Amino acid sequence: METPVTTVLQIDASARSGASDTHSFGSHTRRLTRRFVARWRAVRPANPVLHRDVGQVPPRPVSGAWIHAAFTPPEARAPWMLQTLAESDALVDELLASDLIVAGVPMYNFGVPAPFKAYIDNIVRVGRTFGFDRARSGEPYWPLLADAGKTLVLLGSRGDHGYGPGGRIAHMNHVEAAVGTAFGYIGITDLRCVAVEYDEFADDRLAASLTAAEAAVDALVDRLLDERRARRAA
Ligand SMILES: Cc1cc2nc3c(=O)[nH]c(=O)nc-3n(C[C@H](O)[C@H](O)[C@H](O)COP(=O)(O)O)c2cc1C
Repeated sequence: METPVTTVLQIDASARSGASDTHSFGSHTRRLTRRFVARWRAVRPANPVLHRDVGQVPPRPVSGAWIHAAFTPPEARAPWMLQTLAESDALVDELLASDLIVAGVPMYNFGVPAPFKAYIDNIVRVGRTFGFDRARSGEPYWPLLADAGKTLVLLGSRGDHGYGPGGRIAHMNHVEAAVGTAFGYIGITDLRCVAVEYDEFADDRLAASLTAAEAAVDALVDRLLDERRARRAA
């Protein structure tokens, strides 16, 4: 299933436009996505990298017209419906064309930033990324990207600490679970996560967390490259 070319889709969702290693008060998630992509490119310079910056250019939230259009069969859609779905179609096309999605997603009030939620609402599309048939026996919903071999890398950041598995406030973390559930629903179940903590403290613990996250990103790039080499050799 792995093609020799891996198309990478970098998504940035932080409202902060600069990365924290190049801008004061910059974004840690942008720092991690850039680091990931730079390391990937160093080994695979020919691999296309698409960039979707939802933090700077948020997708439109779904509207009543969008829902009407999306749930109208494609052959019955009026021109206004095609227009209403144009942005969503472009986002879905981009996702379908990508093998490796590298998303920088900060925690905002325990969940994902609103523009990233709008992105999810635009790419979870009936007939394009999931199937629905109420007459189907058993499960009426099914994922359409299940056999596409896509991987989602989720690079997060939080102001507080203890949101990781088993952590003191893990139950308040609605980022990884929500993103994993939505992408899993459309068939992207290979989810890898790295996160920075302690941003609000801006002390040695933040520095240590950044160092650990950068090392984890580097190791993850190397592991994913190895996995792809192994798949191609098989
Ligand atoms: C609107 C907003 C809400 C936030 N909510 C939380 C939160 O619920 N929990 C938390 O630990 N940090 C919270 N933070 C802190 C961010 O998660 C933290 O600054 C993170 O580093 C942001 O990602 P970035 O560095 O990529 O911009 C919030 C920050 C903002 C701007």
